[in-house]
Amino acid sequence: MSVHTQSSRITTAKVRQMKAQGEKITMLTSYDFTLASLVDEAGTDIILVGDSASNVVCGNAYTLPITVDEMIFLTKGVVRAAQHALVICDMPFGSYQISEEDGVRNAIRVMKESGCDAVKIEGGEEFLPTIRHIIQAGVPVCGHLGLTPQSVNQFGGYGLRAKEQAEADKLLHDAKLLDEAGCFCIVLEKIPAALAKQVTDAVSCPVIGIGAGNGTDGQVLVLHDMLGLTQGFKPKFLRLFAHLADQVKGAVSEYNNAVKESNFPSAEESY
Ligand code: KIV
Repeated sequence: MSVHTQSSRITTAKVRQMKAQGEKITMLTSYDFTLASLVDEAGTDIILVGDSASNVVCGNAYTLPITVDEMIFLTKGVVRAAQHALVICDMPFGSYQISEEDGVRNAIRVMKESGCDAVKIEGGEEFLPTIRHIIQAGVPVCGHLGLTPQSVNQFGGYGLRAKEQAEADKLLHDAKLLDEAGCFCIVLEKIPAALAKQVTDAVSCPVIGIGAGNGTDGQVLVLHDMLGLTQGFKPKFLRLFAHLADQVKGAVSEYNNAVKESNFPSAEESY
């Protein structure tokens, strides 16, 4: 009889422990097996299959169009790659906003079919009953506050959030509610660093920032952005750790020239 051993991936309990021990947490997005393998082998703690796939993979201007089926398809490849990192799948727009029942059904489906370890949900108090039920059903939830791209049409753009005191107060309140509801971590996107630090100190679960300063428990970036693959996108918070767009274009144009000039394949590259 063959016995399937448990996954060796980082658990949500381990992520919480990292905060308690003051160990910074790394999170990066991935959307396919090949890049997720590299991200995993490089020792990343958490891989997020973000709904930014809508932009990065599908070329949409917004995250809104991507579907549950598409997120499951992408996440399956990432899960096959992840030996070490915990894998979170974003719950796409429309998959949890309609009703608690619909949200729980979709969250279970996402975890069951993709094999991910947790889901991420944008929003605070307004989705608290749904988030509670999803956690009670056995699906770990990562919260997401601040700039929540699924609400871009409500915000009117991708600018800095919670600059005003009222919005900052609501964000802190929401973070405490998500923490109490049992979210195992919270992503804070594009908010003032001082507020992100205040939230990080106020909640027991780890806080992962993107454009939220250095006072959070960890950081997340979109992989294609930090590798310099995304062209024409350089917000202040983004550090380019590589410039792969230039390298890819260089390699591809070398290949094109080699084929045009009949010097690829060579005799050694032929059977
Ligand atoms: O979809 C995504 O990639 C995200 C990160 C930017 C946090 O939500």
